Amino acid sequence: MSSDLFVELAAPNGRKYSQPRGLFINNEFVKSKSGETLSSINPSDEKEIASVYAAGPEDVDVAVAAARKAFKDPSWRDMDTNARADLLYKFAELIEQHKETLATIETWDNGKPYSVSLNDDLGEVVGTIMYYAGYANKIHGQVIDTSPAKLAYTVREPLGVCGQIIPWNFPLAMAAWKLGPALCTGNTVVLKAAEQTPLSILYLGTLVKEAGFPPGVVNFINGEGRKAGAALAQHLDVDKIAFTGSTQTGKEIMKMAAVNMKNITLETGGKSPLVVFDDCDLDQAVKWAHVGIMYNQGQVCTATSRILVQEGVYDKFVAGFKDYVSQTSVVGDPFKDDTFQGPQVTKTQFERVLSYIESGKSEGAELVSGGESYKDVGGKGFFISPTIFTNVKDNMKIYREEVFGPFVVISSFKTEEEAVERANDTTYGLGAALFTQDITRGHRVARHIEAGMVWINSSNDSDIRIPFGGVKQSGIGRELGEAGLEAYTNRKAIHVNLGNKL
Ligand code: NAI
Ligand code: MG
Repeated sequence: MSSDLFVELAAPNGRKYSQPRGLFINNEFVKSKSGETLSSINPSDEKEIASVYAAGPEDVDVAVAAARKAFKDPSWRDMDTNARADLLYKFAELIEQHKETLATIETWDNGKPYSVSLNDDLGEVVGTIMYYAGYANKIHGQVIDTSPAKLAYTVREPLGVCGQIIPWNFPLAMAAWKLGPALCTGNTVVLKAAEQTPLSILYLGTLVKEAGFPPGVVNFINGEGRKAGAALAQHLDVDKIAFTGSTQTGKEIMKMAAVNMKNITLETGGKSPLVVFDDCDLDQAVKWAHVGIMYNQGQVCTATSRILVQEGVYDKFVAGFKDYVSQTSVVGDPFKDDTFQGPQVTKTQFERVLSYIESGKSEGAELVSGGESYKDVGGKGFFISPTIFTNVKDNMKIYREEVFGPFVVISSFKTEEEAVERANDTTYGLGAALFTQDITRGHRVARHIEAGMVWINSSNDSDIRIPFGGVKQSGIGRELGEAGLEAYTNRKAIHVNLGNKL
């Protein structure tokens, strides 16, 4: 191992491992052509963990060429689908074996509590790869009867070289959501990790190689969004772009992808409502509302960040919620067992949340909890006290814009009609939660809400088997479930003339 392409690290929890630093192309780690690097910061103490090579457009070219070659190579193109399934199962098994190391890297680089990394993120990664491994040998076309003079059938083909751009809030899980369906359908991949969390994906690269994927099938690069990400989105030899991140960047990617009419899947932002009706189980509503916004430091695209409570239970809800947040949202070192909330991922995100706190105060909303940085974790790090604003008006910035932090706004409503109208009064449409004991109302409101996902009596219930995605400016297309396969296959129609003579 060249010492420059790997660095031996010891994480804060004592775990030692060898961290790759290169771009993972053709199953090998290589330096970027320019030699440029980016540095990965531990958000708990603001120190550098390591630096990794950052791709420029010239490196993207190399990765895309590798993926194109692999896509055409019989070793991958013509692989028996049982063998493809086995390969994905083997990959999942290796991730399971290395999950403590992967979870350690994730927590160190991202700041999420270790128990969350290990149980939720790594559980999701293994589960998703296993789920799509199961689909590898179940991708079918159809025979379509027309007349005896013709045989017509469809085959489901991979799209080709897929560019995948992932965010920093769930680095490995977002990689798995994109790798699983792309690979089980026979595509090849160039995946770019977010510059804020570049480390775990490189370790995953070592497992791609060990699992036995042919070189070039899976390529991982790091690099700046505006350089490496844009090069991928604009590349003429990339057939598809799948993106998770901000709505603004999603729109830019859509434009760039138009250059060769790439197939696109976008999963972007949200300001998802959580609607509490008078007749609900209030204790349950309080608990789900808490996890719905405070989980993962509030850095969740589907976070139910806008709580609407019916007048009759408004005061009780606010008091109960405030109490529950103060008891449960323990802020601290993410490697400590009792920590519920670690630091925000970067200084930029930390400052962004603080700026929304200022905005909420200046617009006249009532701050009932938090509203400041949290200094009790060694005086360093991007920690924020869980923040609750009440008396929030619909025209306030904090009511309308995605904050992406442990930050929630609460407002009251009178009628079901008003609740639906205000829940839908947003440019976003990702998730929505509602709490009621009236099943008729529950289903009725679920139908009227403009969102890709609705949770009745829960929040942020994501399931590998169930489609995930948004409407309006929350995205295009679906990930997960059987629906996730649609994003990675074409249906080719083959017409066979059995007797029509000219
Ligand atoms: P971003 O959307 O800019 O970054 C996400 C990914 O896109 C990263 O890999 C980045 O390198 C890449 N990227 C950035 N600009 C690009 C470009 N011009 N072309 C191609 N790729 C590009 O998000 P950012 O700046 O990290 O976070 C800003 C806000 O976005 C957050 O505060 C949050 O509101 C939202 N966000 C939403 C996420 C979600 O899960 N839906 C995840 C991350 C951020
Ligand atoms: Mg970091």
